[in-house]
Amino acid sequence: MTVKPTVLQELPVDLQREKLPRHVAVIMDGNGRWAKTRGMPRIMGHRRGVDALKDLLRCCRDWGIPALTAYAFSTENWGRPLEEVEFLMTLFERILHQELAEMMAENVKIRFVGNLDALPRSLYAEIEKSMIDTENNRGTQFTVATNYGGRQEILQACRAIATQVQQGTLEPDSIDETLFASHLYTHGIPDPDLLIRTSGEMRISNFLLWQMAYSEIYITDTLWPDFDRTEFHRALTDYQQRQRRFGKV
Ligand code: FPP
Repeated sequence: MTVKPTVLQELPVDLQREKLPRHVAVIMDGNGRWAKTRGMPRIMGHRRGVDALKDLLRCCRDWGIPALTAYAFSTENWGRPLEEVEFLMTLFERILHQELAEMMAENVKIRFVGNLDALPRSLYAEIEKSMIDTENNRGTQFTVATNYGGRQEILQACRAIATQVQQGTLEPDSIDETLFASHLYTHGIPDPDLLIRTSGEMRISNFLLWQMAYSEIYITDTLWPDFDRTEFHRALTDYQQRQRRFGKV
């Protein structure tokens, strides 16, 4: 049997290794439309979306990008039809269960961010296990935003800080950006340098609102299940042509 080689296994030669983003965030949009254009149920789009995400995670390792964050489920996504929500929860659980051994072997460190307490118990248990098992891994930092909302994340940080002030253990004058960021779900992970959103939508959609203050944004019309290494190469080429000024001239 011949094994199909992975296209673009190594970092493409036209990309500069020293100018790669340290952290890429993705809004994986267009799964439903991908399925619809093929006359398939929406859930098939999510299935193929998982394959695209798995390869992107491996690609980050192969090309030397240390952190990837994916928006899997927003706090607003509960408004989808019940069957789709249930399918997604079951899919997340199954994928985590199936892929954990491989992620361990590939040294991936997983963190789930969002209001995890509100997720189904069995999914929560898999999430907890994946985070504990991979805690000491030093390969790609893979963050999955699930039942995540950027405003809600900021509010929970405010509550934690306000409680410390109320208890007299924190002076309001000591609240600076570093302290604030240490109360976010993403503490310890560098802010995303690059946000990729597929399917042509030009919105942030309540994703990493604080963390993306200076992220470069790349939007492609490609639907998420079709987002492959060639598309990622395109996004990184575009990113490397940007002049990042962080508000300076
Ligand atoms: C958006 O497409 C996609 C989602 C809401 C789900 C994305 C989730 C995955 C790909 C699975 C991730 C799994 C793990 C375990 C990390 P859409 O349904 O909004 O597409 P549409 O805009 O075409 O309707």
